[in-house]
Order: sequence, then C-alpha cells, then structure tokens
Amino acid sequence: MAADQSILLCFFVSFFAFQIAAKNQKEALDALYKAKFFTNSIAADSSDFFVRNHVPDQNTDVLPTVEIYDQTGLKQQDKIERLPGQPPRVELSQYGGYVTVNKSAGRAFYYYFVESPENKASLPLLLWLNGGPGCSSLGYGAMGELGPFRAGSDGKTLFQNDFSWIHVANVLFLESPAGVGFSYSNTTSDYKNNGDKNTAKDNYAFLVNWLERFPEYKDRDFYISGESYAGHYVPQLAHVVFSHNKKAGKTIVNLKGIIIGNAVLNDETDQIGTYDFFASHALIADRTANDIKKYCDFSPNLTVQSPQCLAASKIAYSNIQVIDMYNIYYPLCLNSNLTHWPRKASVMNYDPCTDDYTYAYLNQAEVQRAMHANVTKLAHDWDLCNDVLKDWTDSASTIIPLLREFMDNGLRVWVFSGDTDGNVPITSTKDSIATMKLSVKKPWYPWFVHHEVGGYAEVYEGELTLATVRGAGHEVPSFQPRRALALITHFLEGTSLPPSSPSSHSS
Ligand SMILES: *[C@@H]1O[C@H](CO)[C@@H](O)[C@H](O)[C@H]1NC(C)=O
Ligand SMILES: *[C@@H]1O[C@H](CO)[C@@H](O)[C@H](O)[C@H]1NC(C)=O
Ligand SMILES: *[C@@H]1O[C@H](CO)[C@@H](O)[C@H](O)[C@H]1NC(C)=O
Ligand SMILES: *[C@@H]1O[C@H](CO)[C@@H](O)[C@H](O)[C@H]1NC(C)=O
Ligand SMILES: *[C@@H]1O[C@H](CO)[C@@H](O)[C@H](O)[C@H]1NC(C)=O
Repeated sequence: MAADQSILLCFFVSFFAFQIAAKNQKEALDALYKAKFFTNSIAADSSDFFVRNHVPDQNTDVLPTVEIYDQTGLKQQDKIERLPGQPPRVELSQYGGYVTVNKSAGRAFYYYFVESPENKASLPLLLWLNGGPGCSSLGYGAMGELGPFRAGSDGKTLFQNDFSWIHVANVLFLESPAGVGFSYSNTTSDYKNNGDKNTAKDNYAFLVNWLERFPEYKDRDFYISGESYAGHYVPQLAHVVFSHNKKAGKTIVNLKGIIIGNAVLNDETDQIGTYDFFASHALIADRTANDIKKYCDFSPNLTVQSPQCLAASKIAYSNIQVIDMYNIYYPLCLNSNLTHWPRKASVMNYDPCTDDYTYAYLNQAEVQRAMHANVTKLAHDWDLCNDVLKDWTDSASTIIPLLREFMDNGLRVWVFSGDTDGNVPITSTKDSIATMKLSVKKPWYPWFVHHEVGGYAEVYEGELTLATVRGAGHEVPSFQPRRALALITHFLEGTSLPPSSPSSHSS
C-alpha cells in the first residue's frame, strides 16, 4: 500500500476526473460527495460510482423479505482460538466467520465478534459499522479504533487496546456491503449494485442470521454504532429492524438505540458546514468560503455547479490537500515501511501509519486462516477500503427523518463528533442537527472524563444527545481512546455525560 501522502495527492489531482479507487475512508466518502455534487459540472467528468437513478430519499421503503438459514454448529466453527501475534497473557472470547446473506447469489458477509472479558452474559450487544462506502469495520473499527488489539509496526504482532469498547459491551464488527474487506459475492454483478438500500437489506439479513448463530444474544439489549458514511448505514439498518419489529408485532431484534460519529447526516448542511470549518480553522481564506457560499448549491436535486463554484472549490482543495483531513492537527504517515521488530506502542500514542500495519497483518494467510476469513480465495487482496465496489446506486440526501422516527419511538439517539475532523466536521453536524429544530433540554455544557473536558454536549427533548469529543479526528477512538470509551459507556448506560468539575468527578 502506498504512503498516505501519495494517496492524498493522487486523489486530489483527480478531483475533477472522478475516480473511485478509494483506499481510505475519507477518499471513499469524498468520491461519493464529488459524484453527488460535482457530476456533470465539467464535460469530461462522468461518475461511474454514484448513479443518480433514484429519487434522493428512500427512507420509507417496502420491507425487504429476509431468508433465515440453518446455523447449526457454525458458531463453534467460528471460534478463534488465538490470533497470530496476540500478546501471550491475553485470553479473549473471539469469533470470526461468514454469514450468508443471500444464498442464491452466493453473498456472504464477514464478521469479527469479541465478547466482553468483564461480563459477557449481561452486557449489551453493540454492532459497529464503518463507512466509505467501501471501507472495512475490521480494518478501521476493530484494528484501528475500538477493538481489543492493534497491529504492531512489524505488521505481525498485536498489542492491546486498554480502552477497547469490549470493556462495556460485546462488540460485533461487520464488513459490509459485499466487496468490502473479506465480504464477497459469487455473483460479481452484485458489486455494481451496492447502494444504501441493498446495504440495509443485506445488513438486516446478516443480523437476523447472526442472531440464529448466537441465539444467546437474541433478547440482549442491542445498539448500533458507526461513523462517517455509516451515518447512513446505522439509521437505515435501525429503520429496517424497527419496521420488521413493528410489522411482526413483536421484538425480533431488541434494538434500544443508535450512536453515530462524524456522520453523514444531511448533504446540504454537511457540505456547507465543511467549508465553514475550513475557514474558521484558518485552512482556507474567508474569501474562498464566501465564494463557495455564494456560488455553490448543495441542495438535493442539483447536478450542475457553476464555474465560479468549481473555481472556489478548487482553491479550497489546493489549500487543504496537504494535511490530514481526518484530523487537521495530526501528522501524516511519512514512512509506511514495516519494521523488523515491533516498535513499543500504546493506543495513547497515535501512530499515523497504523493502517499500513493493519493491511500487512490482515493479508497474511496465517491470520486469515485463524480468523476463518477468505475461505473462497478471493481474487483481490484485503484492504481497508477497496475498489471492488464499482457503483453506488442510491444514496439518501438526508437521514434526518429516520432520526425523528427513532426519537418518536423511544430509541436512544446519540450523535457525536470529533472536533478536529475536517471531513465530516462538527460544524456540519451542528448545522444538520439544527435543521431538526429540537427543543433544548440541557443546554450546551462541557463534559468531563479523567479530570479534563472530554468535549461538549447538548441534550434535546426526545432523547437526542449531541456530543463532541475534544481533540479527536474523524475516527474518534483512534485519537482519543479514553474519551471515546467514556462516551460509549454513558451512551450504553443511558446516563448523561458528566458535567461535574474535575475536582469532584473522575473516571
Ligand atoms: C439475492 O440477490 C439477488 C441479486 O444478486 C437478488 O436478485 C435477489 O432478489 C436476492 N434475494 C433475496 C431473497 O433477497
Ligand atoms: C461461493 O462460491 C464458493 C465456490 O464455489 C463456495 O464455496 C461458497 O460457498 C460460495 N459462497 C456462498 C455464500 O454461497
Ligand atoms: C427533488 O426532486 C424530487 C423528485 O423529483 C422532489 O420530490 C423533491 O421535492 C425535490 N427536492 C428539492 C429540494 O427540490
Ligand atoms: C522503505 O523501504 C524501501 C525498500 O526497502 C526503501 O527503499 C526506502 O528507503 C524505505 N523508506 C524509508 C523512508 O525508510
Ligand atoms: C485471499 O486469498 C488469496 C489466495 O491466497 C489471496 O491472493 C488474496 O489476496 C486473498 N484475498 C483477501 C481479500 O484476503
């Protein structure tokens, strides 16, 4: 895998000649944004990836039918004894394997599941999804953010994440949709038919079949979490779960709430908020931001941008292309070479080259065997984000109506934001939530963890919490592991983030 920097350069050079070979989360999302907002703006720019062939919003679809397959004996087969390179004294209950989501097409999703070493029998079940589209929850979520292990700089050994979310939940990582990570389809045309709708449908098929395989979790409190473009996946899956429960008149999946971070929520405000963030953080000139406000139109049905808009966005991107947009204050990976021996590492010391170690680790045949992955010998390598997905057929312009639906029906809804992310920044999230015109229950306040401000929070009537995580970029648990663990702990417990002063409260 090339160094981050060359990835960034190659991406931004191709800004107006849209391509989809996205190798990281931000690129993948930007690719979709470009396709949505800048397609047809220039004659040569035709998007292969996002095909605008549906009405923008499809939040109220007919319910997909789902097939349940026999899962007898499969749980035992999925048990992972030890991962290669796992620290010697660490014992964990881990599983990995495939769940067929569509037998006739030969479509199967890969999952990695880690039970809590604390109290697996009573702690909730938490599903984590990364975005893209096209990015892996195993590569980012499990290995770079909130899972129990990170790969060392040798690409062979693992070290422990003391702030893993497995301390407060049994965590399920899913690679979705087909073509992402180890997940695949034997009907390769499926790779051209991925979109929001099919992803939600397959994710639901995965979930109900996984619960057949792990029936002890059927009645467990269940939460769905995710970041970035999973701002679509999480609510859309929750909507399908909710609708099936409602139609059946009983609880099929015991969904209690959702939590999404640096999430794509509402295209128009998400886009505008990005340029506000760039300008307010001195990454672009106010002049450029004003031009974008004046000349660009990010409303849902627009397909052609004015030349003035394109010129201003070009200036903006030339200003920001040289830094890490995931976290505007953090270093780039300058040397992605593996080391012979693993460097001493801790999750408290962010390493910008982690993705390269993960890539090396997960592409080893020995690791894939241990994890029961790649059993069909796929033709492509495993990657954090990949170019196996060819098109994205539908992408809602907003998921705000779904958040309202959940609030009206008593689900817990938390929206969080790492406040140094420039990709889906806090300004976007605030503007998107503001479109809901909610009544404030508990006005904006600093919340604390470990004697410091962990971020700020506001709670709204209807049980929606908006929380920032201070000093965190796009992948919040990578940049602020302790604050992220505090956040998820309070979310799962249903307690508000602590407003107490450092002297009276610590955690
Ligand atoms: C299985 O996937 C194919 C597309 O590959 C689709 O035509 C079919 O309807 C799907 N079956 C079910 C039960 O969803
Ligand atoms: C895909 O095809 C391979 C090879 O024929 C087969 O072993 C595998 O079970 C198929 N996958 C699914 C989900 O049916
Ligand atoms: C976009 O187009 C759809 C379908 O043509 C229409 O229902 C909707 O009102 C339009 N939205 C806006 C913001 O113009
Ligand atoms: C990385 O490894 C390559 C090949 O061994 C070598 O040529 C290059 O100098 C190394 N890069 C750095 C920054 O050490
Ligand atoms: C699967 O295994 C094949 C053969 O060993 C390998 O070439 C390929 O890169 C692997 N693909 C993935 C997605 O791990």
